[in-house]
Amino acid sequence: MAGGVGSRFWPASREDKPKQFLDIAGDGRSLLRMTFDRFLKLTTADKIYIVTNARYKDLVLEHLPEINAGQVLCEPSRNNTAPCVAYTAFKLHSLDPDANFVIAPSDALIVNDSLFAANINKALRFTSENDALVTLGISPDAPHTGYGYIQFIDEQTGTEDVYPVKRFTEKPDLETAQGFLNSGDYLWNAGIFIWRAKTILEAYERFAPEIYALLSQGLNYYNTEEEQSFIDEFYPQTPSISVDYAIMENAKNIYTIPAQFGWSDLGAWGALYHETDKDSDGNVLSGNIITEDTHNSYIRGPQGKLVVVGGVDDLLIIDEGDVLLVYPRNREQEIKALRAKAEAEH
Ligand code: GDD
Ligand code: MG
Repeated sequence: MAGGVGSRFWPASREDKPKQFLDIAGDGRSLLRMTFDRFLKLTTADKIYIVTNARYKDLVLEHLPEINAGQVLCEPSRNNTAPCVAYTAFKLHSLDPDANFVIAPSDALIVNDSLFAANINKALRFTSENDALVTLGISPDAPHTGYGYIQFIDEQTGTEDVYPVKRFTEKPDLETAQGFLNSGDYLWNAGIFIWRAKTILEAYERFAPEIYALLSQGLNYYNTEEEQSFIDEFYPQTPSISVDYAIMENAKNIYTIPAQFGWSDLGAWGALYHETDKDSDGNVLSGNIITEDTHNSYIRGPQGKLVVVGGVDDLLIIDEGDVLLVYPRNREQEIKALRAKAEAEH
């Protein structure tokens, strides 16, 4: 899934080039490319599909020259992840009624790609034998309100490391999240799902009947020349909702595998700050930066520009294109709204 806007990474992440196409982690590859490379350890390039907004098709092909245009599923409108997952499932089911697949975001940082591959293979074995919706779970270390929470039941399913899920709660408020954290039987949803196309489509039929009814009208069109014109007409009519709210909060056959691979959601600047090695003043500097009496700040400047910062602490300073953002680091969640305001006024 590479169709989000990444608005909390503004002003680096822009409408015409969202964060999945940026080298956010600073390793020379975009987040999309890093995700793709991770999956190349599990399968071949021809088995990897990218589902994104139509406007990013060329960008995707530029970042992933190994794939062909037919592997880019183009959404005509932004309707969040529930319609996006349903479209993917219908298409894969029409290619192969037994299709067993992984759906992953393109905005996560994963430390150990081999452990990731081992977890995914285990999940795929489980879903090939069970009508199960599997999600990878992360041990929580804070009452983060931007994640889904998975309450798992500590009993084995017959398959090692696979646990039944009692309840899934998307983006709880702070008080609820704190209660979940204290109870010790919750994991964060990594947003990486494993299931057979048939199993997830049954869940849509039951829990998201509107999306199911609309996209099932294309059964004769998927993987034909008519696919895009069908999608262009029907996809925009689907309700805008995430797969977490539409399916995961409602389905009963959910299982989780606690992940061991080291994960961070690169959801906002603060996450990047936390994941990156700091200098002796606690700063993370990206670009040509000089600091004086400056601490615990994330500073990012463009190539060919010297950025000099002095006498300030705990800031985000992002100089990118035609925007310079200076903001308290602990108020990063406000950047989404700030971006909307800035774009409305300019
Ligand atoms: N194709 C497509 N179309 N992709 C989309 C769309 C869309 O309309 N909207 C979002 N995406 C992509 C994003 O680019 C990202 O890779 C992924 O889908 C997840 O969307 P986010 O918007 O980043 O979701 P989130 O971070 O708020 O929440 C999800 O991820 C958390 C972990 O990072 C949920 O699954 C949470 O439960 C989970 O904890
Ligand atoms: Mg996200």
